[in-house]
Amino acid sequence: MLTWRLMEYGEVASTQDLAESLARKGGKEGTVVFAEAQTSGRGRAGRQWLSPRGGLYCSLIVRPNRIEGVQMITLLGALSVADGIMTLPGIKTQIRWPNDIVIGGKKVAGVLASASARGGSPEFVVVGIGINCNFRAMELGEISSASTTLMDLLHKPVELASLRFQVLETFADHYEAWQRGELEVMMRRIKSLLSTAGKKIEYKPVKGEVLQGLAEKLADDGTLVVRREGRWLKLRAEETEWLREL
Ligand code: BTN
Repeated sequence: MLTWRLMEYGEVASTQDLAESLARKGGKEGTVVFAEAQTSGRGRAGRQWLSPRGGLYCSLIVRPNRIEGVQMITLLGALSVADGIMTLPGIKTQIRWPNDIVIGGKKVAGVLASASARGGSPEFVVVGIGINCNFRAMELGEISSASTTLMDLLHKPVELASLRFQVLETFADHYEAWQRGELEVMMRRIKSLLSTAGKKIEYKPVKGEVLQGLAEKLADDGTLVVRREGRWLKLRAEETEWLREL
């Protein structure tokens, strides 16, 4: 059973850096590093994650029993955040493949998974979660028009401790099911929340230029099936720098 061991900080550079360094030194599965603010928060593909006070920033260490399907942990994290946020009254979240949690098309949270393997076995995965909670989206500068915060939506601050409890408990349930190889319920739920399926998309492969296509569906291995110029291809999260729904 996944038992959480919480480590709480004020302002740090990045909870992801802290948790990765702990994991490399043998930090136990279930260790969670929380911070009130980050000065060098990291997003996917080397992007910055702006982390003013009032947000929920944490990175948790897991040590999966197998390497196959480890890429599912990002989606599993996104589902846990989406479901955790939906425990707040009147809020409906969606998942924009592969790691964005959106409300009304605007990003409210993101998930970043950093994996380390040795000799074909997974050593650890650090799952970083950032949720825009108790501040205004306008504090996010140039990304403010594509972002939203829970306070902007609810017109009052949210209780961070209870939101993080919901997210961690949901993550633990899905992670344990995944470890047992039980993916069906989780996949059904992710598919039902996926905003990307059926949309025209624009995306940038890590190596390559911006392309367009039609996102057909999420495959059971977590890749996105895209139709492009009459052909089908599977996008992998780690090979996709960014994706936009058109
Ligand atoms: C993304 O959408 O690009 C992923 C954002 C992940 C941000 C979180 S905040 C807590 C943890 N620490 C970091 O530096 N990044 C992750």
